[in-house]
Amino acid sequence: MLGKGVFDRRVDNNGIEVWVAQVGPLANINTAFIDRATNTVVIIDPNSAKKWLSALEKENLKPTHVIVTHTHRDHVAGVKKLLKKVPEIELVGHIDSNYPNILSRILFQHQKYTETWSHKEHTIEKWQAGGITLQVTHSPGHAPGHLTFHGHGVYHAGDLLFTARSGRVDLPGGDAETLWRSVSHAREILKSLPQDWWMVPGHNYQWIDGTTPNWVTVAEALAHNQALNSPTLEEFDSLDFLRFDDDLAV
Ligand SMILES: [Fe+2]
Repeated sequence: MLGKGVFDRRVDNNGIEVWVAQVGPLANINTAFIDRATNTVVIIDPNSAKKWLSALEKENLKPTHVIVTHTHRDHVAGVKKLLKKVPEIELVGHIDSNYPNILSRILFQHQKYTETWSHKEHTIEKWQAGGITLQVTHSPGHAPGHLTFHGHGVYHAGDLLFTARSGRVDLPGGDAETLWRSVSHAREILKSLPQDWWMVPGHNYQWIDGTTPNWVTVAEALAHNQALNSPTLEEFDSLDFLRFDDDLAV
């Protein structure tokens, strides 16, 4: 539940707030960027419309933008209802994320974007809404058109990276070498960021000490994440969590 005290919150020097919370039955992590000065609220991968709307309403806020890391159903589960309740929401994702394979409809949910990014893989585009500025990195390999977002003290990795691992590559549209290139690109980005920023994963799976935190610091991720510490494709490709027999972890 997104009740009081459930969010991890931080505020940067410009007054931009970041709220991070675990939402839904599959341990999904959602991040919101909030600029109260311009009433701008950007939510990444909302898993539940109801929980977000009620949490924001308590502070006289409502979502203005939804941005999507990828279109696996657990990452867009709340989008349709959010748009129904707040039709003026801008919905933005990468143009490649609407995976056209008809057999994959059980896994992906087509999004009616109001705006799309179309930059090439492993490149970054700047995006602004109100006082919120995010760097949008095209990071495929787990899913087509996968994006990561960073700014205001947070790197939201989606299913590119979990705290200790990376996303899987054995679902339709996944590819190990492409993911390895995305992880390698992410490593360089993370090295360039302030090391106390939060690295927020797409799911709060197990960290190295057995706990399931909603984020670790960038320094902790660089030191201990197994994917970030697999510098060769061969090493990376042998990691057992890239492929497994489990229908839930998408
Ligand atoms: Fe996924």
